[in-house]
Amino acid sequence: MREKPRIVVLTGAGVSEESGIKTFRDSNGLWENHKIEEVASPHAWNRSPYLVLEFYNKRRKEIIKAKPNAAHLALVELEKRFNVVIVTQNIDDLHERAGSSNIIHLHGEILKSRSSIDEELVYDCKTDLCIGDKCKLGSQLRPHIVWFGEAVPKMEDAITEISIADILIIIGTSLQVYPAAGLIHYAPENASKYLIDPNANEFSLPNVEAMANKACAGTSDLVRFLMNN
Ligand code: APR
Repeated sequence: MREKPRIVVLTGAGVSEESGIKTFRDSNGLWENHKIEEVASPHAWNRSPYLVLEFYNKRRKEIIKAKPNAAHLALVELEKRFNVVIVTQNIDDLHERAGSSNIIHLHGEILKSRSSIDEELVYDCKTDLCIGDKCKLGSQLRPHIVWFGEAVPKMEDAITEISIADILIIIGTSLQVYPAAGLIHYAPENASKYLIDPNANEFSLPNVEAMANKACAGTSDLVRFLMNN
């Protein structure tokens, strides 16, 4: 049997916006009234761990309440005809809850915690994370999030997938944060490339079909097209 064509979908905060989760750069660089570096960096963690934990505890509660939207669900439909890998910068679990099978979380997962001395020690975390919560080695648990200034361990996996993609779909990311933003350059030159974002016309990406639309409508349209052509 012929192998299914390969689709990689690179998603950012915009894919979850219609699920009620705010994007990062829509409010003057502030994330829920905090500068991003004040809550999402190793420096912040060392200086104000209570603030960092409180910030992520609030985000976790919001995410647990949110539901996958039509964009997350449409991407699952693609698996009937394609080999699909989702590479997401999002820390939510909405692609999982929608039912996608292969998901690479570049920037970590808010529903997990990890040891602050051994990054391989990762635990499920469905409730508040507090000072005093420890890993089995006795060190404080931190959110399982890739903070600014930290290495992105899943980059290699993402590069491997993107460099053999037949189709690349980019949804709801400002492509301002590296190294994730650089991933699109690994796609083969002859791969079909689509960008879904209300501001798509402001991006100048060569050989990418820009679809200026929100994620739900744009992804549903594109999935219908790909399933029928
Ligand atoms: N549908 C699709 N796209 C949308 C929607 C929507 N309903 N609403 C907003 N957008 C678009 C915006 O136009 C913007 O291009 O989503 C993008 C969101 O960009 P950012 O807020 O910068 O989010 P993202 O690119 O995911 O950020 C990358 O930065 O803060 C860090 O680690 C964090 O993973 C995050 C990374």
